[in-house]
Amino acid sequence: MESRGISKAVIGRLPRYYRYLGELNEAGVERISSSDLSKKMHVTASQIRQDLNNFGGFGQQGYGYNVKYLRTEIGKILGLDQSHNMVIIGAGNLGQALANYASFARNGFILKGIFDVNPELKGKVIRDIPIRMMDELETVLQEENIDIAALTIPKTKAVEVSDILVRNGIKAIWNFAHTDLNLPKDVIVESVHLSDSLMKLSYNITRYKEEHGED
Ligand code: NAI
Repeated sequence: MESRGISKAVIGRLPRYYRYLGELNEAGVERISSSDLSKKMHVTASQIRQDLNNFGGFGQQGYGYNVKYLRTEIGKILGLDQSHNMVIIGAGNLGQALANYASFARNGFILKGIFDVNPELKGKVIRDIPIRMMDELETVLQEENIDIAALTIPKTKAVEVSDILVRNGIKAIWNFAHTDLNLPKDVIVESVHLSDSLMKLSYNITRYKEEHGED
């Protein structure tokens, strides 16, 4: 499936399509028209058609989309048909919460290790995985074919830890530490800021209150 040259905006919308199609599939829905999918997802039918046309369509006139097939194809574009080994660095509140979330594994993200510097956390087991100290990180990176590292450490430590990761051939960093990482081009960085989403919420609450005359 060719996905090079696809705009970031389209790629950014694919996980949402994947999620909705997963729900439809679980509910036993076999096919759906772009207009029904558009109502469900609150985007226009033409947006859906345009987005999916980037990958050769998948739809058939008068039939709509085959839910299972479309989900599988989008999954392939997103690389979810392959599994990715992952480690979490920083086993505090956020790191442990991510480690506890079983659904990542269902999408092929396999947690192979959790690391921290705090000796009090050493050996604590989260979903069968014991927290290890950082001195074991390099061996795990080299021997367990780790693609992704989630960084859930203080931002002051993010640069030194990402240096270790890069030195040991990490392919991608899922960065929760609120700092920009300047890494070699071949290392993919996806930074997450939950507060951005909360600020969007705040914006919408504020607009709503203004429109409805509330304080
Ligand atoms: P926390 O203090 O509970 O956990 C941080 C953990 O990192 C601790 O267990 C600490 O021992 C460990 N650590 C410190 N230095 C380390 C190093 N060099 N190597 C390995 N582990 C190390 O903090 P929390 O609440 O889990 O947050 C973690 C980070 O994520 C913080 O930087 C926080 O600002 C950020 N954060 C980001 C969010 C986002 O949306 N991007 C949301 C919430 C937190």
